[in-house]
Amino acid sequence: MNPGHRPVLVLIWLWPFNQTFELDLCSSLFNIHGCVLTANRDFIEKADGVLIHHRDIAWDASNLPWILRPPHQKWIWMNSESPSNTARIPGLDDLFNVSLSYRRDADIRVPYGSLVPVHDGFEDFVDFLPSEKDKLVCWIVSNYKPEHRRVQYYEQLSKYVQIHVYGEFFERRVSEQEYKDIISSCKFYLSFENSAHKDYITEKLFNAMDLGAVPVVFGPSRKNYERFVPGDAFIHVDDFPSMRALAKYLFLLHRNQALYLRYFRWRRRFQVKTAYFPVENACLSCEYIRQNRQYQVLTNLYR
Ligand SMILES: *[C@@H]1O[C@H](CO)[C@@H](O)[C@H](O)[C@H]1NC(C)=O
Repeated sequence: MNPGHRPVLVLIWLWPFNQTFELDLCSSLFNIHGCVLTANRDFIEKADGVLIHHRDIAWDASNLPWILRPPHQKWIWMNSESPSNTARIPGLDDLFNVSLSYRRDADIRVPYGSLVPVHDGFEDFVDFLPSEKDKLVCWIVSNYKPEHRRVQYYEQLSKYVQIHVYGEFFERRVSEQEYKDIISSCKFYLSFENSAHKDYITEKLFNAMDLGAVPVVFGPSRKNYERFVPGDAFIHVDDFPSMRALAKYLFLLHRNQALYLRYFRWRRRFQVKTAYFPVENACLSCEYIRQNRQYQVLTNLYR
């Protein structure tokens, strides 16, 4: 076996969310070389890896490849949703070889975002100043369900502080540009996940950090967040005994600019990098296959 010899071929079996994407970006965007991505199913016998997006199987096993698998071929199970939002399609154990998700225990780990060190040579660092703010707390939400814990937090918190709300549920759809403008014009942004699960920390956190709003998070524990970002980069709902206490703290930071600015100290050392779905997922799959030729099987997918 000589992995360096011929390029690794990864077949995109189903276009994620039925959307096509450029297949020749691995080297230019991610510096990953020796990869060929294809969506042409004629290559199923030749592919080293087959990338399958869980959601697009859509409860229908006939959407999976129907071949006698070449011995070296690996099927990659790709999923970006939390366990609460993952359909337990039966019959998928002992079928896939490699897992790809945001979780730290996935074979191929593609978090929604991460912090990367800022370039060296920044000795004369000028502290970051967030852009002008004309709103205290904002929330943009499309999936609003009363049974979600985040909705209960929102309702509680809004008794004590005005929350500027946007999104489909509030009949205020926002464009991509508006999304950015809204977040950067707010002092605090509610980065509330739809469900609380280990490592499930999405663009809701990373976009707020990137755009200069201080994230107020609901999701996994503070400890879990701190495996991804510094503890002084966010406010966690669990830090407070009540939403009233949280509101009080937000007003305190509102009045005390020096305290507020402490939430941006991470910017001296890091910048935000958000994942480029699904191109990055496909390129990282290829890189993984190239480096891991050993036999492996996912015997218990949902665990
Ligand atoms: C991939 O998983 C299948 C199904 O369990 C297995 O038969 C095959 O040997 C595995 N291939 C590799 C390369 O690990």
